[in-house]
Amino acid sequence: MTPSLALPLFKLQLHRVCVAQEKRRSVTLRPGNAWQTPRLHSGQFHQTAAEASKRARERERLGTPEILQHSRNLVMDLSSGMEAQALLEDMLEITAQSLVHMEVSEHYHIIKELGKGKYGQVVLVTHRKRGTPMALKLLPKASTKLENFLYEYCVALSLSTHPAIVGMFGIAIESSQHYGFLYEAALHKDLISIIKPKAGIPEPAAKLCAKQLVSALDFIHSRGLVYRDVKPENILLFDRHCRCIKLTDFGLTRPQGTLLRLVVGIIPYTAPELSRGTGDSPGLPIDASLDAWALGVLIFCLLTGYFPWEKTLPEDSFFDDFVIWQQSGLDEDLPYHWRPLSPDAVAMLRSLLALEPTKRGPIRQVLSYLDRPWRAEVAAKDP
Ligand SMILES: Nc1ncnc2c1ncn2[C@@H]1O[C@H](COP(=O)(O)OP(=O)(O)OP(=O)(O)O)[C@@H](O)[C@H]1O
Ligand SMILES: [Mg+2]
Repeated sequence: MTPSLALPLFKLQLHRVCVAQEKRRSVTLRPGNAWQTPRLHSGQFHQTAAEASKRARERERLGTPEILQHSRNLVMDLSSGMEAQALLEDMLEITAQSLVHMEVSEHYHIIKELGKGKYGQVVLVTHRKRGTPMALKLLPKASTKLENFLYEYCVALSLSTHPAIVGMFGIAIESSQHYGFLYEAALHKDLISIIKPKAGIPEPAAKLCAKQLVSALDFIHSRGLVYRDVKPENILLFDRHCRCIKLTDFGLTRPQGTLLRLVVGIIPYTAPELSRGTGDSPGLPIDASLDAWALGVLIFCLLTGYFPWEKTLPEDSFFDDFVIWQQSGLDEDLPYHWRPLSPDAVAMLRSLLALEPTKRGPIRQVLSYLDRPWRAEVAAKDP
């Protein structure tokens, strides 16, 4: 039965998705057994990564691949994830020593609030002497572990050279009430502020977003990390036409291969392998396919102004209908609210949203669809 475009989808679109994919600040993330590293100094690291990767290959050959079953690329992912982890541990320790203790108002004027998330508040500040405008993300000490704050800051700093990732000023502070860091302010808000309910955004803008996001996510993955929080609230606009967008909020970013357990909160962007739960296993080793799923959901939202489903669980009838279509591939099974999309866009999303993570993506394939119509009405005009 074709699902009606029930109000909940529409309502979801209006309300920012603030449900965390797990209790972020208290999440227990344990590195995979295959690459549990002692604290390493960069000189030692390469040898250890190579050894671990050799051991992992050996386990695979012997037919006890456990962690490796998840993805054929995981051997590579594990070593780049290990490298990322070691680098972040070093950065974290150094940053902890150089954290600036001060009250915000001593050095900065607070101009206005730029936004608020589940964990932090972001304010526009100017430097008292220089007048430089900056965004300041403030995380209350009462609800934020220092280690988690430093992790988010160090990840953001390590990635901030990419043009589609928010630029950092390299200043982390600790006040009596907050931890905070300074970064580029986006004066055009975030992507959710321009998505029209039931309509989305113009196709050229959606393609510009997709192109920049592919580049940013590819960059993150090449650094051995998985972003894990693709959603319009985390994409900042530097103009109203999406010519310049930047990814922000690295609170969930983790090295590839990190074992993840879903603790609470399934949102439309949560990949089904996470929603299903990890049972008795120590967790799911994460990789780039989680970001591919979320990117697929985001592109759907940009093109339709709807979420494709509320939750990636069988009890969600929209998701259930999608699963039926994914499995049959028949045009007649295509869910009703997917019909505004062109056949090319449907094919692209079908691949990004493959139910089996190993069959998903890769994210880069989006680029090969950029010169084809994504909306059915555009395809009809320009067959
Ligand atoms: N540099 C910035 N310039 C302008 N607005 C920003 C900036 N950084 C963040 N914001 C706004 O503030 C909101 C909250 O920021 P952020 O996502 O970093 O917080 P969070 O608490 O980690 O969020 P979440 O609820 O997604 O976990 C963003 O959704 C965005 O609207
Ligand atoms: Mg956010």
